[in-house]
Amino acid sequence: MRIVLVGPPGAGKGTQAAFLAQNLAIPHISTGDLFRANISQGTELGLKAKSYMDAGNLVPDEVTIGMAKDRMAQADAANGFLLDGFPRNVSQAEALDDALKLDGQELDAVLDLEVPEDEVVKRIAGRRICRNDSSHVFHVAYKQPQTEGVCDICGGELYQRGDDTEETVRRRLEVYHSETEPIIDHYRAQGLVVTISALGSVSEVTERAMAALRKDD
Ligand code: AP5
Ligand code: ZN
Repeated sequence: MRIVLVGPPGAGKGTQAAFLAQNLAIPHISTGDLFRANISQGTELGLKAKSYMDAGNLVPDEVTIGMAKDRMAQADAANGFLLDGFPRNVSQAEALDDALKLDGQELDAVLDLEVPEDEVVKRIAGRRICRNDSSHVFHVAYKQPQTEGVCDICGGELYQRGDDTEETVRRRLEVYHSETEPIIDHYRAQGLVVTISALGSVSEVTERAMAALRKDD
């Protein structure tokens, strides 16, 4: 399956993607995680992305689209993928449509996670991620690690993301409404959008998502 996950910052896209990707046996491709890995490795791409991310703005398309396409071209994504954080504006959605068409492929669904803004703010304020791998995600109240400050998965140190400050979160939400939400209409016109509530426990949301994807099949 080829799925796009969409939803505001802090909706739980990364958290759900980990379970959905495992259930569906497809790779989880997160452009945010790819950027953060580049930043921690000090690559040129990471250097370019960092100032945009710190300000809560989108990294320019000329950097992002190439990176996403390169990742999708890897062997493990040949039979499907779960995209998390890409596409994030209409021009990225059009670039993805074109790239898939060239390969004779198409998306199966766009899973839209709905969460009220006050819940998103709580989820982001308490989020802690792992220094070794930003896909290892915890929460000080909702998903506590066994040992405070230590990743359950790899033993790495947990820290708060630099773009999880109140001011940057406000900017990321603005960018979500103005630039990312329009992709939902873009995909609605293609009959691909499945909307679910992302409130409730992590496993409840996963079950809801799997049921919605099965129904859509
Ligand atoms: P990115 O990393 O994609 O961030 P985001 O979209 O803002 O999403 P988040 O990672 O903040 O949240 P999430 O929905 O994954 O939630 P999570 O599962 O962690 O992008 C960061 C930046 O990179 C962008 O601002 C931009 O600069 C750049 N970028 C990335 N892609 C780009 C693109 N395509 N184009 C241009 N720029 C791009 O959950 C949040 C917290 O809630 C966690 O602590 C979790 O434990 C907890 N939680 C999850 N589910 C539940 C639940 N059901 N109940 C209680 N708590 C929960
Ligand atoms: Zn870890």
